[in-house]
Amino acid sequence: MHKITLIAGDGIGPSIAEVTVRVIEASGVKIEWDRVDAGLTAIDKYKDPLPPHVIESIKKTKIALKGPLTTPVGSGFRSVNVALRKEFDLYANVRPTKSFEGVPSRYSDIDLVIIRENTEGLYTGIEHFIGANEDIAEMVGIVTRTGSQRVAEYAFEFAWKQGRKKVTIVHKANILKYTQGLFLKVAHEVAARYPEIDVNDRIIDNTAMQLVINPHQYDVIVTTNLFGDILSDLASGLVGGLGLAPGANIGFETAIFEAVHGSAPDIAGKNIANPCALILAGVAMLRHIGEVEAAGRIETAVSAVLKEGKAVTADLKKQGAVGTSEMGEAIIAKL
Ligand code: NAI
Repeated sequence: MHKITLIAGDGIGPSIAEVTVRVIEASGVKIEWDRVDAGLTAIDKYKDPLPPHVIESIKKTKIALKGPLTTPVGSGFRSVNVALRKEFDLYANVRPTKSFEGVPSRYSDIDLVIIRENTEGLYTGIEHFIGANEDIAEMVGIVTRTGSQRVAEYAFEFAWKQGRKKVTIVHKANILKYTQGLFLKVAHEVAARYPEIDVNDRIIDNTAMQLVINPHQYDVIVTTNLFGDILSDLASGLVGGLGLAPGANIGFETAIFEAVHGSAPDIAGKNIANPCALILAGVAMLRHIGEVEAAGRIETAVSAVLKEGKAVTADLKKQGAVGTSEMGEAIIAKL
């Protein structure tokens, strides 16, 4: 029996989390879920978007499955997602992008992984206004040798273990010579220890363009926090959208699995969200805890439902789409 913290999340979170739990349970893996609230739900209940008992739960279980959490834009409380990544030092954010047969998309046969530095860069949240009029705002981006080295080591080790051929270091060291320059330098130092893996580096703007016109040239991308966040949404758009994009936040002791997408308030409460991104995050979680066989079966079931294209949600099909729970039932039926 595995003990795992479950944060259902905001917006579409509870509906996709419920489907994901049902799919994982249908695979036969025995999990005791510690269900806790964070984000808007926790503000309603506890007046705190990240109550201490949530941290305590993850400290005990070391593994969490998390639905998306809303972060107010421009003002209000700071991101709970970022706070969790910092609290548990989840330094590597692993975001795979993979084509699924049957899914209408711009390209087929895409199989790339973006590994994003997850604790520093421009997401440190150190920012303030200068002067009383709030006309000037200033922020601090932090890049450290330690942070750069551990994420680069994770990326090259990941590439090596998975038999991948190439790692592209993505940066903006032409303009941001100190911060991005340090990341680039350290990533190349790590690359030198992996002679069997091809390495190249590319500036972020060119990377974005090349991803759109020729995504097959990429295998593993390692990059800093903000660039990785943006590129992974872009990459998901190449294979059918955010509804299919899972992510894993990895630390030395703890890991939190979630979808790449957010709480999608525009479609919340309508039973139309695609549950696959969180289900696939659940698949990555099962692999992480050693339930490799069940993970494979769930992934095969998801692929089969997508290939048939009958019981899929509205993001993947204009007419005759099914709801979130119905797509979940179709995946369970395949299991
Ligand atoms: P979003 O990712 O929630 O939605 C972007 C677009 O994709 C929307 O049109 C939405 O309907 C669609 N979409 C997202 N997930 C989908 C799914 N499973 N099925 C079908 N369509 C889907 O981004 P948005 O609207 O900018 O952010 C909403 C909130 O989510 C914000 O408060 C943001 O801070 C938060 N957020 C949280 C994340 C997390 O918890 N890790 C990640 C990204 C955003």
